[in-house]
Amino acid sequence: MKFSDRERFLDWTVYQIYPRSFCDTNGDGVGDLNGVIEKLDHLTELGVSAIWLCPCYQSPNRDNGYDVSDYREIMDEFGTLDDWKHLREATRARGIRLIMDLVANHTSAEHAWFQEARSARDNPYHEYYIWSKKPPNRWKSLVGGSAWEYNPQTNEYYLHSFAVEQPDLNWENPKVRAEMRAVVEFWTNLGVDGFRCDMLDFISKDFKKGKMLNGPHLQEYIDGLFKGIDVFTVGECQSDEKNILSVSKSLTTVFQFEHIQLGRKNKYTPRAFSYDEVKKVLVKWQEFSQKHGLLYTLFTDNHDQPFYLSRMGNDQNLRYECATMYGATFYLLRGIPFLYQGQEFGFANPYYPTIEYFEDIETLNYYRANESKKPLEKLMNEINYGSRDNTRRPMAWTANEKDGYGFSTGKPWLAYHSRAKELNAETDKTSEKSVFEFYRKLLAYRNKSKIIRRGSFRDLTRAKDCFVYERAFAQKRVLVVCNFERQKKIPLPEGVNEKTFAFVLGNYKDFEPFSQRFRPFEIAVYEEK
Ligand code: BGC
Repeated sequence: MKFSDRERFLDWTVYQIYPRSFCDTNGDGVGDLNGVIEKLDHLTELGVSAIWLCPCYQSPNRDNGYDVSDYREIMDEFGTLDDWKHLREATRARGIRLIMDLVANHTSAEHAWFQEARSARDNPYHEYYIWSKKPPNRWKSLVGGSAWEYNPQTNEYYLHSFAVEQPDLNWENPKVRAEMRAVVEFWTNLGVDGFRCDMLDFISKDFKKGKMLNGPHLQEYIDGLFKGIDVFTVGECQSDEKNILSVSKSLTTVFQFEHIQLGRKNKYTPRAFSYDEVKKVLVKWQEFSQKHGLLYTLFTDNHDQPFYLSRMGNDQNLRYECATMYGATFYLLRGIPFLYQGQEFGFANPYYPTIEYFEDIETLNYYRANESKKPLEKLMNEINYGSRDNTRRPMAWTANEKDGYGFSTGKPWLAYHSRAKELNAETDKTSEKSVFEFYRKLLAYRNKSKIIRRGSFRDLTRAKDCFVYERAFAQKRVLVVCNFERQKKIPLPEGVNEKTFAFVLGNYKDFEPFSQRFRPFEIAVYEEK
């Protein structure tokens, strides 16, 4: 895709919704599509221009919708296709785009295709999946255990890169490719504006080289999926520069996760980090995407990761400062902002003493694999640190536990956030230091500033433990100064003073814009006069 074809997407700001935990309107304890409609005013007030809905297709929910059993039906708990159409109309009326999650690598084991496929080797659907008489390799599934599962009916093993209940589709089969293309067409005909493509790099495998992902046909398959259809596409890709360049020929943009991998040994174990590592990774990808005419996705949080703020910052006494610092640092960069529900209120990780409070299949697998190996307290600390349930807790819209924090009148599908009384939309919005209020100003600034949306990026950092960058467009510049944890003096670049630049945004009261003194997690944005 040429840069000129994708440049317009730099004007989008996407808000990710995990529908299960967003807002429940029928009291069954599970969020629903009508709940999303109910909160659209909130999104307009915040200033977002698109929503990405995590999967809302029919699913037995072994992996909360990432195990699709019917790509053309809405999950019963979320509502009906008519509800979805209302949502489509309501978003359109507000000028909000709708991005659907597309789970193309695997289906649910309950999908009719797999039910047929597993029944007999000569069933016409058998070749929709990947089979072997014996496990041909020692591939591990990403949620733990072998990636091969025995199927007694055919006396074979099938491949599942994720849970046992998520068999991988056989993309080498042209019929599978045609089926998934038809799914894309079904939703685009209904007016979808884009797709977030789940684990897209897994659809092409390389058995000869022992690679579960990024196989030789990846680009060809992606091309076939979207060619000639004018939609926004963002691929979830575990990719290096080379692969990103190649998949970017067929996608609008990709998520890459280098900044997410910082500060930990593995998903459940932290390691010491310095903020300069975050800055280095951001600069690397800014420069790379600028050089190659790519769009970069700007995000810190999603439904698979604990809150960035908790892992890579301060979620206690400096929570407001840290949340707003990360917000400004990331969302004033060159690229497309993606916010995750709750981030706009500075939500952080909860804490629970036992496994009963968790539902996520990956977390439960990790617990089972380790319960006899590690003391309970250590294991629970790891789980609280890394679990995907951290960001999947039902949204707390009010401070009132008795009204289900404004999320549901019923029993929530997953325990409320352990800090919900303190971390909720109502308390944040009425607080003197409101993260929401800061985000609102930040996004309003982004939306009105062409320098931020379309301008070039230049790193001007000259000191440790801070990030200073410039955005420029049509001879005008914006300077963003982000201080990390320690109070310090950050020299402003030459020529930046009260005569040449105006201070436009900060996250501390009583800031002296040109004093060059910055407090912990303080940010300042200056615009050329
Ligand atoms: C999704 C996860 C899901 C996995 C398997 C990921 O990309 O974001 O939530 O478990 O794919 O579908």
